[in-house]
Amino acid sequence: MRTKLIVGNWKMNGNLAANATLLRDLLAEPTATGCDVGVCVPVPYLAQVHALLAGTAIELGAQDLSAHAVGAYTGEVSAAMLKDFGVRYCLVGHSERRQYHGESDVLVADKAKAALAAGITPIVCVGETLAERQAGLTQDVVKRQLAAVIHANGHCISEIVVAYEPVWAIGTGQVASPEQAQAVHALLRLQLQAASPHAERMKILYGGSMNAANAAALLAQVDIDGGLVGGAALKAPDFLSIIAAAQQG
Ligand code: 13P
Repeated sequence: MRTKLIVGNWKMNGNLAANATLLRDLLAEPTATGCDVGVCVPVPYLAQVHALLAGTAIELGAQDLSAHAVGAYTGEVSAAMLKDFGVRYCLVGHSERRQYHGESDVLVADKAKAALAAGITPIVCVGETLAERQAGLTQDVVKRQLAAVIHANGHCISEIVVAYEPVWAIGTGQVASPEQAQAVHALLRLQLQAASPHAERMKILYGGSMNAANAAALLAQVDIDGGLVGGAALKAPDFLSIIAAAQQG
């Protein structure tokens, strides 16, 4: 039995006051049991959120990191720097990074490696665009994206979290049906099984328009081990409802 994991991706949202209010409201609820919870925040707020989450059950996450360890890489943030602020999870290969910053499968794999080397759990995002789905390429795309990460990380692959985020479902309100999502998750599980003896304990999250209304049905699927939540993670009642659904699922 895999413990569910619900991770909020705040993307480029928030400010000091709004972050404090959101976390206060999340922490006002009793400590989540039977479900791990994290929030991936913008870099300037890592210190603030690290302090506010100290001693709580919510883990800190980042949204990206450098593939390099140290040096002349203006604007980049290393895994060691994230670790300094208590970062437990880091997204890698989010579709917005792949799309707007040209991140390749190889770069994403190297970023996962950098996170693992620092003891940070990379949440490796994979997912097809609408055009790719319509062309019948969903399986090819997600398998290719995950294969690059497996290839670069060898036996360490057992320590990653995978997030299936169909690009057409992100921020659109057009959620994948539980059956559509489960079909891809099952495929990803098979791929992990071929690469790791620990695939049964590895988590595969679903992301893309997950909300308080649709979370329970998605989280009831056998290979959906949690959620990577964008918009709904910015509203405490919605995020708490998703966590509650995960605790029951
Ligand atoms: P939404 O939940 O806003 O669709 O975003 C999903 C996502 O991209 C999480 O990483």
